[in-house]
Amino acid sequence: MGRSRAVRARGITKSFGEVVALDDVDLEVEAGQVHGLVGPNGAGKTTLLGLLLGLAVADRGRLEILGTQVGRTLAVPDGVAGFVDGPGLYPSLTARQNLTALARLRGHDSAGGVGEALEQVGLTDVADDRVRGFSLGMRQRLGLAAALLTRPRLLVIDEPANGLDPAGKRHVHRVITGLAADGAAVVMSSHRMDDLAALCPEVTILSTGRVVFSGPVSKLAAEVGDLDHRLRTSDPAAAREVAEGTPGLRIVRGPGDGADAGVLVVRGPVEALDDLVVRLVGAGVAVRGLAPVVPPLEAAFLALTGIGTEPGTGPGETEEDPR
Ligand SMILES: Nc1ncnc2c1ncn2[C@@H]1O[C@H](COP(=O)(O)OP(=O)(O)OP(=O)(O)O)[C@@H](O)[C@H]1O
Ligand SMILES: [Mg+2]
Repeated sequence: MGRSRAVRARGITKSFGEVVALDDVDLEVEAGQVHGLVGPNGAGKTTLLGLLLGLAVADRGRLEILGTQVGRTLAVPDGVAGFVDGPGLYPSLTARQNLTALARLRGHDSAGGVGEALEQVGLTDVADDRVRGFSLGMRQRLGLAAALLTRPRLLVIDEPANGLDPAGKRHVHRVITGLAADGAAVVMSSHRMDDLAALCPEVTILSTGRVVFSGPVSKLAAEVGDLDHRLRTSDPAAAREVAEGTPGLRIVRGPGDGADAGVLVVRGPVEALDDLVVRLVGAGVAVRGLAPVVPPLEAAFLALTGIGTEPGTGPGETEEDPR
């Protein structure tokens, strides 16, 4: 038997008054897959995740979740868990009490599962602290633990890495990949390209409500044209001359001064970059580094969502992520 489909959305449209939050969106997620949802602020990610969780109903389109047709009512099949806009938690209860209460509400036998879920998200040490004092990252993890309690076959999470420290992030990554390895499907949104690259073999990119890309991450890099590359050499002025004489190569800027001292930014197909390196070495100029200014996945995202097409906001000009 082939892998079953956890999510099949076709032509989903959802408006809020004049705002078309989702416009003819298709989404396919197989069981055992971690699927990433990316897009600029307001692209429609949370809206789409909300539909998968049964928090809202689409205006148009067909939505099948875990083999069941949904859409006319605010309900989703058993086996779906997750949250958008932060998990709903009782601040005056401890982490453990929150999970126990949830388990009881759902009619589950609690004790064993609660401890295990807390362990999985790395909250064992603070299990008996009130949630009131929890940080954003701790709340996110507790929300994930609550979802785990239901042993989901489809986990839907909105920016799960938000506010997580490196240890918390490792827990969350392990939980997500563990669920997928056990055959569950995961749909998660993220603004972090490093998380997506690490977790999601497949992504859907939304831009103002429309799908601009859906498929394997490996295919995404091919969508983007020639990338800007930073070139560091032993002799920037000579390097510029050589670059000017290299067919198919464009000098974007440089050699700069200040932080970018001696760096030349060039753009061209791989063959032209190879040719440049050979020519530099031939001219007695040592190559100290040649690397894309923006990682390929991020560059593809920027190119596809239209960010970075205006002058001065090109991929080469984006601010470094303050990590
Ligand atoms: N309940 C609502 N009422 C009115 N407009 C809404 C509502 N929910 C979303 N929208 C609008 O729909 C669009 C998509 O919003 P959504 O929250 O899905 O984007 P997003 O991709 O999650 O953005 P972000 O990255 O900022 O979280 C936005 O223009 C938003 O203002
Ligand atoms: Mg959102």
